[in-house]
Amino acid sequence: MIIIYFSQSGTTKAAAEQLHSVLNVPIYQIEPVKAYPADFSELAEVTKLEVAKQVQPDLKRMAIDLPEDHKIILGFPTWRHQPPMLIERFFAVNDLKGQQIFPFTTSSDDLIGKSLPFLNDWAGQAQATIGNGGTLNSQTEIERFAKEVISVDQD
Ligand SMILES: Cc1cc2nc3c(=O)[nH]c(=O)nc-3n(C[C@H](O)[C@H](O)[C@H](O)COP(=O)(O)O)c2cc1C
Repeated sequence: MIIIYFSQSGTTKAAAEQLHSVLNVPIYQIEPVKAYPADFSELAEVTKLEVAKQVQPDLKRMAIDLPEDHKIILGFPTWRHQPPMLIERFFAVNDLKGQQIFPFTTSSDDLIGKSLPFLNDWAGQAQATIGNGGTLNSQTEIERFAKEVISVDQD
């Protein structure tokens, strides 16, 4: 199992690091080639255009191998009620065939359910599957998700 995440302003990163310390599995941050603007209104504009034009931003080359047990925890912020388009890129450029992906998001209020239709679509095209997900906006949810993933891992 591995934790792979994208985080723009650090919240998803903090949740991913907590999972990492509980689960004791490798952790890897995916990054866009071209950094997103730090300014909120510029970022809002860029992300709006990405969705409108269905742009998948390029990612820095992954410096890791995907896990042999085929289990990936994938974290991202919810942007515009869905995963960032960069996550679609992640599905498009990696060989994820047979991987089971446990998604989590951090958000201001949207639950992971908002992102699931997108993830299921992208995973389907990559011949991967989406497993249990979480909205890790609280300590309680981080702990619940960690326990859930541990129990799946022991199946
Ligand atoms: C451009 C942008 C769009 C966002 N859209 C949503 C949204 O649709 N729903 C939501 O609940 N939160 C939304 N948020 C809030 C982020 O999901 C939240 O702050 C998240 O924890 C940021 O994670 P990060 O620090 O790892 O980047 C948005 C934030 C940004 C910057």
